[in-house]
Amino acid sequence: MTLPDHIKAEAARLRTEIERHNRLYYVLDAPEVSDAEYDALLRRLVEIEEAHPALRTPDSPTQRVGAVPAEQFAPVRHTIPMLSLANAMDPEEALAFDARVKRFLETEEEIVYVAEPKLDGLSVELVYEEGVLTVGSTRGDGVTGEDVTANLRTVKSIPLRLSPVAKAMGDESPVPRRLEVRGEVLITRDDFERLNESRDAEGEEPFANPRNAAAGSLRQLDPAVTASRPLDGFFYAIGQVEEDSYPDNQWELLDWLKGLGLKINPLCRRCSGIEEALDFYRYLLGKREEIPYEIDGMVVKVDRFDLRGKLGNTARSPRWAIAAKFPPEQARTVVEEITVQVGRTGKVTPVAHLSPVRVGGVMVSRATLHNQDEVARKDVRIGDTVVIQRAGDVIPEVVEVIPDRRPEGSQAWSMPAKCPVCDAGIIRVEGEAAHRCSNMACPAQVKTRIFHFASRGAMDIEGLGRKTVSQLVDLGKVSLPSDLAALSKEDVLELELFADKSAENFVKAIEEAKGSRTADRLLFGLGIPMVGQVGAKLLMARFKTFEELSGATEEQMLDIHGIGPEIAGQVVSFFAEPVNLAEAEKLWETFRPQQVAGAVKDDLAGKTFVLTGALEGYTRDEAKAAIEKLGGKVTGSVSKRTDYVVAGADPGSKLAKAEELGIKVLGEDEFVEMLGENK
Ligand code: IVH
Repeated sequence: MTLPDHIKAEAARLRTEIERHNRLYYVLDAPEVSDAEYDALLRRLVEIEEAHPALRTPDSPTQRVGAVPAEQFAPVRHTIPMLSLANAMDPEEALAFDARVKRFLETEEEIVYVAEPKLDGLSVELVYEEGVLTVGSTRGDGVTGEDVTANLRTVKSIPLRLSPVAKAMGDESPVPRRLEVRGEVLITRDDFERLNESRDAEGEEPFANPRNAAAGSLRQLDPAVTASRPLDGFFYAIGQVEEDSYPDNQWELLDWLKGLGLKINPLCRRCSGIEEALDFYRYLLGKREEIPYEIDGMVVKVDRFDLRGKLGNTARSPRWAIAAKFPPEQARTVVEEITVQVGRTGKVTPVAHLSPVRVGGVMVSRATLHNQDEVARKDVRIGDTVVIQRAGDVIPEVVEVIPDRRPEGSQAWSMPAKCPVCDAGIIRVEGEAAHRCSNMACPAQVKTRIFHFASRGAMDIEGLGRKTVSQLVDLGKVSLPSDLAALSKEDVLELELFADKSAENFVKAIEEAKGSRTADRLLFGLGIPMVGQVGAKLLMARFKTFEELSGATEEQMLDIHGIGPEIAGQVVSFFAEPVNLAEAEKLWETFRPQQVAGAVKDDLAGKTFVLTGALEGYTRDEAKAAIEKLGGKVTGSVSKRTDYVVAGADPGSKLAKAEELGIKVLGEDEFVEMLGENK
């Protein structure tokens, strides 16, 4: 069928019009039409494309969510590696950075810098070919990322097609033949709170912070899920560019990117000399709470690209830029109550319930108190005014008590003698910091065990949040993880908050976990004490079937590099219990896990690391991820069981402790060497 010209023309006109409104709304924050008018345009375009599918082009605004769910993300090698930034922990270090730059460039003149907020999101790279978005990837390890093109296409502030905007001067930037552009994907604080509220209402586990929410949303196998999340972003750098001429400095680059329709951060400043950059640092710090998204510092970049070329890079970060970090966000509030939470292994953790307080823009009403010894050491009491802190990805914690604000007659807190959930005794095992509920059938334990089984690192069953699990257990629908397999839509419809469609999806999510998850996930999901994701991988790489695993002796397990007597002992005694063996057998039969390939690097596998101080080339999370990828484990405190302490700049008391215990300390270089080419 030939297409009438007027239809073609209308589709083209609608596309241009919709793209223009997209940009006005999502990139420039200056909409010209109402939502209803915009929707009408989009609906008309959908209508035309449905009638004439030949008109449907991949860069059409109707095609943001077109792709089907992926099995896994394909690797994408970045043409130019995506480096990390070295950190400056205080203004002095920023001055030292400036001095270094001058020394290197053999100049005494002030350097022109561009200072930008350091966005606490997820870095991504987009590739535009002839102006059309073709590939979008995550940073990954810097060299190879994951192909998340379909997901990035759903982000409304990311243009599917670059289109030059006429500038004030009248000239337009030509669209480059090929452009690799880099930036950060994030979720604003308001959107984050709304997202968590709706997750909470649906019984799903809330995200810990906006960064995790953005990461979780971008790394979804089903782009439709990503499309439903409020992702946003800013662009601030380029990779390889194929075009005859483009800017030769950062300040004009930002303007150029903006001119192509990419969203850039308006809070950037061109500074003559480091002092001006530090003024801007103080300004941003003061404004931090008003900024609608999270920033964890400021990035200072040498403006001129030719100077950047002279400065070059170290192994992991450019010499021409530094991240001046902000201190962790703290706030004062009152402890209204201290309760205890019972985990899946019965571990009882004290939790402070706080008068809700905004810490760096996120409402916090609970903070962990870790264990009885910690409560005693800080002497936290009900009624106390405390300083709480939220840094990066960690759960908020109580830093200290303000002694003069303590109300009269307050009493030191102590661990209750009985479990608040099942009334069984709370015990403390010799040598452990934790207290535990002694009753295996304690509903709190049962619920947490099922929740753990379904969690992301284990069987990854979407929609099985705490509330849903809690109702399923209370209604007697499940008491063991294996009971999940037999749940019907009718069972689920008895729960609050489930309607026809959501109940169907829920049952479907359980079905999907069958036959599609690896055996180490299932083993981890059993919740055997001491068996984490890494231990589970090591075990399942060695024992290929359930029979081999459940029949293995302690000696056989100890043969595996990385499995110590504690894990081996726990696994053997777990399977020695007939109830556990039967349950595990049933889970293996119904969920039919896939065999695990053995691929963990030997000298790191099973080793325990503690990180202290700031590393130049890695954030805490990156270092942790790199260690875990190779089969190692990262813990928070130094003990006899620690194998290595990795010490960066400004190490804390952990370094002293390591020296005291004679534990091997690695500098950053040694650490990088150990990670080797596996980085
Ligand atoms: S420039 C080679 N600018 O920080 C440095 N990075 O530690 C190129 N980041 O992975 C990055 N805001 O995810 C740059 N305004 C900004 C940034 C920024 C956040 C992140 C980025 C990068 C990490 C480096």
